[in-house]
Amino acid sequence: MINGERITKSTVRWGMVGGGKGSQIGYVHRSAALRDRYFDLVAGAFDLNAERGRDFGAELGLDPARCYADYRAMFTSESAREDGIRAVSIATPNNTHYEISRAALEAGIHVICEKPLTFTTAEAEELQALAEARGLIIGVTYGYSGHQMIEEAARLVASGALGEIRLVNLQFAHGFHNEPVELANPAAKWRVDPRFAGPSYVLGDLATHPLYISEVICPDLKIRRLLCARQSFVASRAPLEDNAITLMEYEGGAFGTLWTSAVNAGSMHGQKIRIVGSKASVEWWDEHPNQLRFEVQGEPARILDRGMGYLHPSSLIDDRIGAGHPEGLFESWANLYYRFALAIEAHDAGKPEQIKDLRYPGAKAGVEGVRWVENCVRSADLGGVWVDYQ
Ligand code: NAI
Repeated sequence: MINGERITKSTVRWGMVGGGKGSQIGYVHRSAALRDRYFDLVAGAFDLNAERGRDFGAELGLDPARCYADYRAMFTSESAREDGIRAVSIATPNNTHYEISRAALEAGIHVICEKPLTFTTAEAEELQALAEARGLIIGVTYGYSGHQMIEEAARLVASGALGEIRLVNLQFAHGFHNEPVELANPAAKWRVDPRFAGPSYVLGDLATHPLYISEVICPDLKIRRLLCARQSFVASRAPLEDNAITLMEYEGGAFGTLWTSAVNAGSMHGQKIRIVGSKASVEWWDEHPNQLRFEVQGEPARILDRGMGYLHPSSLIDDRIGAGHPEGLFESWANLYYRFALAIEAHDAGKPEQIKDLRYPGAKAGVEGVRWVENCVRSADLGGVWVDYQ
């Protein structure tokens, strides 16, 4: 249980690129990183608009001298200081992730980056290799994966309680962009422009979340080939899709589907993960993250609740308040951030082996997300055909 006792020896001096005033996800990063004081926000290049970024940093209480006009100035100055940042979170539009991450790693700074990590697998692998060579970490904020019941689902699968895994049914399909909201919403506008979003919209923006969660729950499943069809129901979004359906064949015979959409009118989030085995199934829905359905064929369905003693001990480690009280997205993110802090500490101590069993979305998860999007786009652009997974 997390009750505020320190689990790292030190506090990570931390900076942010992006996540400035009015941004969608900046506040969630700060809430998560600062929750248990494993990170201390001391520097930032928060905004594309340097003046607004400086003002925002000052509002947050930062030393104005450490509120930089751009990330390059920040990395140069901070890496020259004895008390410079050890880690940076990158919460900017997708097109900048690669260059900012690379610059941070080259300056010897650990990276926590938004998804999708890069536009191409080659770029993501380059970052992974660079981090390894420098003894640095890359964390990727698949922010839903810190929910406790995902650990329970993984434990149930690992225990064999589901039997042989047959079907992986994934979905992240919301309805908020059923109209061209991008005309009035800057955060939606860049998402449907390939120059900023990359080769996809919903495949990279949404689908990579349940995909990563499925990798956590079923780590042994490897995709053999896939077929993706994508549509732009709001025509001005083409060539980027606002809806896509992907079929996946795994090695060993399991089959998967992933429906992702921003035009699922009426749906709030619609992120669901259902794993079907030969004996039983589990299902998790991010709108009710404290519960996991466990359905054994021939028996009444069970609703397992977060924080309860009948869960696997490792599903209770991140409990912050006891069963019955709802925990949510902020806690899920904070659970990822404390793991990033543990990983940073172990790497800085030159002992990465200390955290070999620590589960957090790292460089590999970032690479795999980009690889999956790349394969989906290749299949879709060939007309929705089966392609071998590369
Ligand atoms: P946004 O458009 O709301 O905010 C972007 C922020 O970055 C703004 O403050 C902007 O001024 C700043 N910025 C842009 N370029 C910059 C640069 N070169 N240097 C410094 N600051 C810069 O975007 P939003 O929605 O917050 O998304 C940011 C990233 O976070 C995207 O990659 C997106 O995919 C990801 N995201 C992830 C979520 C998750 O659940 N993990 C949820 C929402 C977004």
